[in-house]
Amino acid sequence: MSILVTGGSGFIGSNFILEWLKNEGDTVINLDKLTYAANNYNLKSIENEKRYIFKRGDIGDENLISFLLEEFKPRYVVNFAAESHVDRSINSPEHFIKTNINGTFCLLNSLKKYFESLNKEDKSFFKFLHVSTDEVFGSLERDDKPFTEESPYRPNNPYSASKASSDHLVRAFNKTYNFPALTTNCSNNYGPYQFPEKLIPLIINNALLKKNLPIYGDGLQIRDWLYVEDHCKAIIKVLKMGEIGETYNVGGDNEKTNIELVKRICTLLDDFKPLKAEENISKYEELIQFVSDRPGHDRRYVIDSSKIQRDLGWTPEETFDSGIEKTVIWYLSNLDWVENVQNENYLNWIDSHY
Ligand code: NAD
Ligand code: DAU
Repeated sequence: MSILVTGGSGFIGSNFILEWLKNEGDTVINLDKLTYAANNYNLKSIENEKRYIFKRGDIGDENLISFLLEEFKPRYVVNFAAESHVDRSINSPEHFIKTNINGTFCLLNSLKKYFESLNKEDKSFFKFLHVSTDEVFGSLERDDKPFTEESPYRPNNPYSASKASSDHLVRAFNKTYNFPALTTNCSNNYGPYQFPEKLIPLIINNALLKKNLPIYGDGLQIRDWLYVEDHCKAIIKVLKMGEIGETYNVGGDNEKTNIELVKRICTLLDDFKPLKAEENISKYEELIQFVSDRPGHDRRYVIDSSKIQRDLGWTPEETFDSGIEKTVIWYLSNLDWVENVQNENYLNWIDSHY
């Protein structure tokens, strides 16, 4: 048996493939366009694994998708492929419309045709899981209750609007065509292999280079952080046990302000990579710099994951303290990975954005 994973060379997708191959028997076909955010080095440890097949391509290429479906006949398809960085969506929203909306539509169209061609038994096994975000629900005020699966969609930036559109398409394919789809809406992930344009790896990387640690606005925005392996385990639970047509919120119940989080990383670095006496700062915190806020910056996201906990028995294994410590140690132990992703493209983005 096999599963098709799209966007499997990015941050969460590569963690998912490693997690899947550790515990499950199916072959994994990874379809990835290899945008700037991808890195096949993430999957180096499985390059000789017989149950892993990589195909470069676009989820918007219906012919390619149909070919892969016919050739490998996957029982599950998991869609991670997306443009995922909010700040880039503010500068160049067109890429987000193309992949997140049009690409998801093409993928759904090919999958629907394939599903309709299956016999009754194969139909009963087939499932599509769309990996989405809590950002589709918009922003919470300080005393608002966490987002549930019933919260209204109120996206505030081009990225979240494009993900919201894709979620609506997935829902519509299920309701209209009985296409067997599931959706997960997860909070902020962190952990190994995250591209250093996102807050946590950017802060670790900048701190190690003794560069400023940029905090947007007042730094009091709140995110709900979840260790990436816990997200991957939730996806596997939903694939196996989730009810077709349902959506599941996934979160870590770890509300942190950005400034609190950045200071925590600085303290961990003070312990694991102490600054030398000759350096002109004594604590990493001294590198913190407040910079202009992100336009349309969502103030607070928090997820209520009681549905997946109650119905599917999922709970996060990592606490915030254990997860963030593991993450800092991972980046310190994988400086070659961090070096490797800082190509010209990355450096141009950092130069133009900060
Ligand atoms: P990422 O940017 O690290 O990886 C995205 C991957 O998709 C890359 O490998 C890229 O090459 C690939 N890709 C992009 N466009 C493609 C296309 N047209 N066809 C095929 N492949 C394409 O993203 P991530 O952080 O790993 O997020 C994965 C998914 O999870 C996204 O859908 C994102 O919206 C969602 N999500 C992310 C988070 C988070 O905190 N990172 C939280 C919740 C949900
Ligand atoms: O909530 C889930 C979402 O989490 C995912 O859907 C997105 O794909 C993922 O990128 C992430 O979005 P955020 O915008 O929350 O993540 P980011 O790491 O870009 O920023 C986290 C917070 O830190 C946010 O409030 C903005 C702030 N920030 C970010 C950067 C890059 C800074 O203060 N300084 C920075 O330099």
